[in-house]
Amino acid sequence: MAEDRNALRVTCTAPVNIAVVKYWGKRNADLILPINSSLSVTLHQNQLKSTTSVTASQYFKQDRIWINGKEENIKNPRLQICLREVRRLARKRRNSGDENSNTLILNHKVHIYSVNNFPTAAGLASSAAGYACLVYALAKLYGLEGELSEIARQGSGSACRSMYGGFVQWIMGVKEDGSDSIAQQIEPETHWPELRILVFVVNAEQKPISSTAGMQASVKTSPLLKHRAEIVPNRMMEMITAIKQRDFESFGQLTMKDSNQFHATCLDTFPPIFYLNEISKCIINLVHSYNNHFEKTLVAYTFDAGPNAVIYTLEQHVNEFVEVVKHSFPPEENGEQLDQGHS
Ligand code: DP6
Repeated sequence: MAEDRNALRVTCTAPVNIAVVKYWGKRNADLILPINSSLSVTLHQNQLKSTTSVTASQYFKQDRIWINGKEENIKNPRLQICLREVRRLARKRRNSGDENSNTLILNHKVHIYSVNNFPTAAGLASSAAGYACLVYALAKLYGLEGELSEIARQGSGSACRSMYGGFVQWIMGVKEDGSDSIAQQIEPETHWPELRILVFVVNAEQKPISSTAGMQASVKTSPLLKHRAEIVPNRMMEMITAIKQRDFESFGQLTMKDSNQFHATCLDTFPPIFYLNEISKCIINLVHSYNNHFEKTLVAYTFDAGPNAVIYTLEQHVNEFVEVVKHSFPPEENGEQLDQGHS
């Protein structure tokens, strides 16, 4: 391939987010419009992140993508939507005379290289960080700024929340075109500096049923999911208040209850979906025993579509809780897989 001295490359990183009020179920699967609003905490990028480089060159014959070193199918409809939407927005800005938009390369094809420094599709929000990173990197390439969560949402629903740091809600919106289904920061990362997140990798393998397929099955078959849609609006308000007041007792209780209800919905799906395994359940029991002992909520668990436990706690309890976990799951049996993260 000829060297293209005018090739333009942009590299960005994006964080993982862990929901404390879960998104589960779409009212419109094409546009990725959820049946309830959701809320998450964005993790610091020190431990978990996606890194994406996008290069545009006049010599590229087609758009291509490599994820963790392996070429993937660029025809994937979600990738196509993100590429199309970012380019459409860039053209729109150009036509409206925005001088910042980098329009020369709009006709060039792109090569995209994306890597995660954590297990892909193991219930650790890899698609969220991945799509957020892709959309952000493409936007930077074309000189776009402003609201991009609507595009990231169309790559993967939870990705819209990774477009912001700190405490982020994804407002479900009511419009049919999805233009009001966007992410919004509630508080920045500096708001609750003592908050800590521990990730216990129980199983780093790919989950048996993807979030996309799982939630589709729940929408079709779970009566509990319909009930959940009625409960979540109030839970969102309580969660926002708990975060604003840095009230860990309420924050932790709501987080655990929401995780449990999400997994109950999976069990209520027919045939049932099991994301938690025996180790996950042991961690749940351990958290409750620990909190019962202190008669306070000091740690809280949440599980996404996989068995890996995410623990929210405050800085002063981290060491002790990690010791308790090590005691219950001796490292020689479990390979020291302990990751600590900051929010
Ligand atoms: C359990 O965002 O991966 O992690 O929109 O189909 O790509 P798609 O689903 P995805 O689902 C995430 C589900 C969850 C809960 C959450 O992050 O809110």
